[in-house]
Amino acid sequence: MGSSSPLTRRSRAPSSVFLTFICFVLCLSYSSNAQSSPVFACDVAGNPSLAAYGFCNTVLKIEYRVADLVARLTLQEKIGFLVSKANGVTRLGIPTYEWWSEALHGVSYVGPGTHFSGQVPGATSFPQVILTAASFNVSLFQAIGKVVSTEARAMYNVGLAGLTYWSPNVNIFRDPRWGRGQETPGEDPLLSSKYASGYVKGLQETDGSDANRLKVAACCKHYTAYDVDNWKGIERYNFNAVVNQQDMDDTYQPPFKSCVIDGNVASVMCSYNQVNGKPTCADPDLLSGVIRGEWKLNGYIVSDCDSVDVLYKNQHYTKTPAEAAAISINAGLDLNCGSFLGQHTEEAVKAGLVKEAAIDKAISNNFMTLMRLGFFDGDPKKQIYGGLGPKDVCTTANQELAAEAARQGIVLLKNNGCLPLSPTAIKTLAVIGPNANVTKTMIGNYEGTPCKYTTPLQGLAGTVSTTYLPGCSNVACAVADVAAATKLAAAADATVLVIGADQSIEAESRDRVDLNLPGQQQELVTQVAKAAKGPVFLVIMSGGGFDITFAKNDAKIAGILWVGYPGEAGGIAIADVIFGRYNPSGRLPMTWYPQSYVEKVPMTNMNMRPDTSNGYPGRSYRFYTGETVYAFGDGLSYTKFSHSLVKAPRLVSLRLEESHVCRSSECQSLDAIGPHCENAVSGGGGGPAFEVHTKVRNSGDREGIHTVFLFTTPPAVHGSPRKHLLGFEKIRLGKMEEAVVKFKIDICRDLSVVDEIGKRKIALGQHLLHVGDLKHSLNIRI
Ligand SMILES: *[C@@H]1O[C@H](CO)[C@@H](O)[C@H](O)[C@H]1NC(C)=O
Ligand SMILES: *[C@@H]1O[C@H](CO)[C@@H](O)[C@H](O)[C@H]1NC(C)=O
Repeated sequence: MGSSSPLTRRSRAPSSVFLTFICFVLCLSYSSNAQSSPVFACDVAGNPSLAAYGFCNTVLKIEYRVADLVARLTLQEKIGFLVSKANGVTRLGIPTYEWWSEALHGVSYVGPGTHFSGQVPGATSFPQVILTAASFNVSLFQAIGKVVSTEARAMYNVGLAGLTYWSPNVNIFRDPRWGRGQETPGEDPLLSSKYASGYVKGLQETDGSDANRLKVAACCKHYTAYDVDNWKGIERYNFNAVVNQQDMDDTYQPPFKSCVIDGNVASVMCSYNQVNGKPTCADPDLLSGVIRGEWKLNGYIVSDCDSVDVLYKNQHYTKTPAEAAAISINAGLDLNCGSFLGQHTEEAVKAGLVKEAAIDKAISNNFMTLMRLGFFDGDPKKQIYGGLGPKDVCTTANQELAAEAARQGIVLLKNNGCLPLSPTAIKTLAVIGPNANVTKTMIGNYEGTPCKYTTPLQGLAGTVSTTYLPGCSNVACAVADVAAATKLAAAADATVLVIGADQSIEAESRDRVDLNLPGQQQELVTQVAKAAKGPVFLVIMSGGGFDITFAKNDAKIAGILWVGYPGEAGGIAIADVIFGRYNPSGRLPMTWYPQSYVEKVPMTNMNMRPDTSNGYPGRSYRFYTGETVYAFGDGLSYTKFSHSLVKAPRLVSLRLEESHVCRSSECQSLDAIGPHCENAVSGGGGGPAFEVHTKVRNSGDREGIHTVFLFTTPPAVHGSPRKHLLGFEKIRLGKMEEAVVKFKIDICRDLSVVDEIGKRKIALGQHLLHVGDLKHSLNIRI
């Protein structure tokens, strides 16, 4: 997203001398712009003549209303609807509308469509997405989306927010150095797909009966293969992602496909980068072909801010600005974040580079979305969400869900038995580290102003008596105050070190170059651990993983928690986990690699699969076989769970037509389409699907929550993954309780692999299913 806004947002706090003056000016400008009512079109009550327009007639079908509106517009007026700050048309009762709002993990002030004010000073700030993803709880993804859209509607009703949100970010977290990995649901295509569709449903689905209506419009971004921001000077604006068809189809595209098909998202955003030499926003195969053609997007395609400008100015992809405008619109772009299309489309039409009909199509998609949002239905206060207002933002229940999301996501990576801490056994807890008492760091990027903060220190101090020292002046930790920190730890019954990163280390436009803890943090941790009187616990706040092998192997470090960027209530959740009021259940949504990994692997290599010819080790748990610091799916509990397989077939026979080539020759794999995919005969089930039932038992002495993962290792054909996730399910079990978790496996969809040219194939032979430590061999044959 916008290259400019994140920088301007982070201005330094004004010195107190100027504070009064600035306040005065701000208050003046607020009151002059003060708007307490929403923007909307067709205000028939205020202007009865508008009732004559078909596009304002709520009884008519949306398609008809859109066509009616488009037919009334001049070319210049139409062009005004191609840009994010859409021009109004006064004669038709249409106000200007700002399309750009953000709601990655709460209503955000990034994006000019949304503001906080005295009336709504803040909104609920959920954990950054990478931590929410670690919960592996699909109903949580949706529940958060639902709260965010309620708060967004409430803010819209008082003129503070838009209806169109350019969230979520569902790019695969391919490389641990990526500064925006924090915004994503991690490295796994299945988890990312479930996150995408779950969060989008939460944002979009209304409580009304018309399924085509939108509560707010979500947007899956950045399409596609976008995950380099600025690595050693290689910037997203110029980066050409070279992606083979196999990785495209089984890694980069699935979250977008699920977002459109399962989530029914109202928008997809094309990215800045090129894919195989073409800017994504100018690629007709990716836009008209895949998103609108194959996946049947019901909504609009928007550019990043401003990728059309970028493909012209930075990439020199076209000779003239008019050509850049034309090539994007002709490729299927409907809306331009920025003003480029507003400036250059008319010239493109006059030069015959783009037809007016293409512009009609684009703005129709935009209008269709606004119609589904009720924007053309008159006063929103009289519509389904008209009753929402400031009282519905930052409610106790919403803030509790923010704390709950952080609890569900926090991952316990190491525990030598000292956790949970008994509050009565601790007289003094030393809380040390540059992230120990942070506020803003906890909410990551694409944030809003939160309702309030509970810092880790405040959370812990709510339970036991604490002493505190930051240890370094910031996370960069150029100099660690080791002497004072070790003294504090030596005098306490236990020590919690809260360390890690913030936006100065990993952010938009800022990729890391290494995986070590910043500056002298490692030295601080090691010395504190050596000097501490009691057990030492590490709490790591970050988006991406770190090489913390030293701490993993340090016997003095009794426990390690990864808390992502845990949101406004982070401190509550951290304390709940440390003191055992919540039994941790989060699992890592991405691999934690050792530092040596990034020394071998250029960030710009998009290949997922290893290459034995040059020692390239591959990426993610699906392909990488080397050493990890922590693995995808890692995460401990304070209780013990065991699995046993109750039901799973050993053999599945696929019935082929007489004429099928595989009947007469040796075949390693079959196309995952065709009659055998409709009528397969299964040895264990019956039909092209079967079930795997696994019994899970909590054999420990306390209640716990457990994520059951079903992985499979397919036969080694077509460079298939060494292991990939087929399904996951999170369950709560009381002590000594057990339950059966059932997975339904569709052979053609779930057990197929993508071949070298992007075709889905069912590999014949032995598939190894994994649940926990269990392995089960399943033979697929003809
Ligand atoms: C911790 O941070 C909070 C919020 O910024 C602040 O009010 C408090 O004074 C800090 N505590 C210490 C001990 O520095
Ligand atoms: C998943 O999240 C929802 C919403 O917070 C919660 O009600 C449910 O208990 C969670 N499931 C588990 C197993 O923790």
